[in-house]
Amino acid sequence: MLNSFHPGELWLDNQDVHINAHGGGVIFHEGKYYWYGEHKIGGSNGNSAHVGVHVYSSSDLYNWQDEGIALPISEDPDSEICKWSVIERPKVIYNSKTQKFVMWFHLELKGQGYHAARTGLAVADSPTGPFQYIKSMRPNAGHWPLNVTPEQQDPESIQRTIEQADKFFGGHSIKHEDYNILGAHFSGGQMSRDMNLFVDDDGCAYHIYSSEHNATLHISKLTDDYLDHQGIYTRNFPFRWMEAAAIFKRKGKYYFIASGCTGWDPNTARSAVADSILGPWTELGNPCVGVNPQNNMGPELTFGAQSTDVFQVNGKEDCYIAMFDIWKPKNAIDGRYVWLPITFTDEDSFEIKWQTSWSI
Ligand code: GAL
Repeated sequence: MLNSFHPGELWLDNQDVHINAHGGGVIFHEGKYYWYGEHKIGGSNGNSAHVGVHVYSSSDLYNWQDEGIALPISEDPDSEICKWSVIERPKVIYNSKTQKFVMWFHLELKGQGYHAARTGLAVADSPTGPFQYIKSMRPNAGHWPLNVTPEQQDPESIQRTIEQADKFFGGHSIKHEDYNILGAHFSGGQMSRDMNLFVDDDGCAYHIYSSEHNATLHISKLTDDYLDHQGIYTRNFPFRWMEAAAIFKRKGKYYFIASGCTGWDPNTARSAVADSILGPWTELGNPCVGVNPQNNMGPELTFGAQSTDVFQVNGKEDCYIAMFDIWKPKNAIDGRYVWLPITFTDEDSFEIKWQTSWSI
């Protein structure tokens, strides 16, 4: 039995198999934690979906029991979630009104690289599934963000951007700033890649997704049943190219971590604070401190990892755990997990310090 965390090392489940729940998230429900994540296979093929979303359960956060595949990929080659699609960063939240477990994830369609930029939805009655795939979409079609500008609504600027649509694929570039990517996706829905979910104290849930070719992050309110977007959203951190976002709340303030946008390679983490989840957000800088001796990577490379989620330990007021992934794109199944505690340094700020081993 484990009684501590060992960031970056192999993490064996109850069957002595390295946990297979990458880009994941943790929820607490009726006395147990559930960890959902991408099931990866060996080799670089493991970067596409071949199995589905894996779920584990635990009562102490150190020892995890394999609960199997919560959302299996579809055997139907015409399904959006077929083999060779991309299913990333699955997150599950519980809706106490409908008593359903609701999963959202980043979906890319088979054979289309990362061009589809969609979000997928699946629902279950039990935390371990089986989850039923419902649909995918680009969020908020026909809705402007609360902080839209008149320029973004200008039909000429929308048309000019639509005509250049192919120019924007391929990552970070300055040219995105000269075009109206938001406007170009107004009718069809906004692009949605790396994502997370957050449920506020009042039960309202939010979908946080890298949009506009990953240049700008959207934070969007979900409907009361968590099964759709309400059309209420904001653009945040424009042209800061943030991925892997996670939001948590402490003493009435909202906190945020994310990465930059460099694919599987590590980069410098970001953090931010806000009084309202829909913003405005104030950036706080890189929260990471220390060096991972396994790869000699320090705070400027997030210990060789990329953020994935933050959750609060049940019943422990100031105990929040930040989850990161060390990706192994050449052998995806070997990706490692880095879980570290969040330390609050003053009213508004926090740190995430490397630890070789630690316990709650
Ligand atoms: C990362 C992202 C991962 C995955 C990867 C693909 O930036 O956070 O979830 O999409 O790119 O290259």
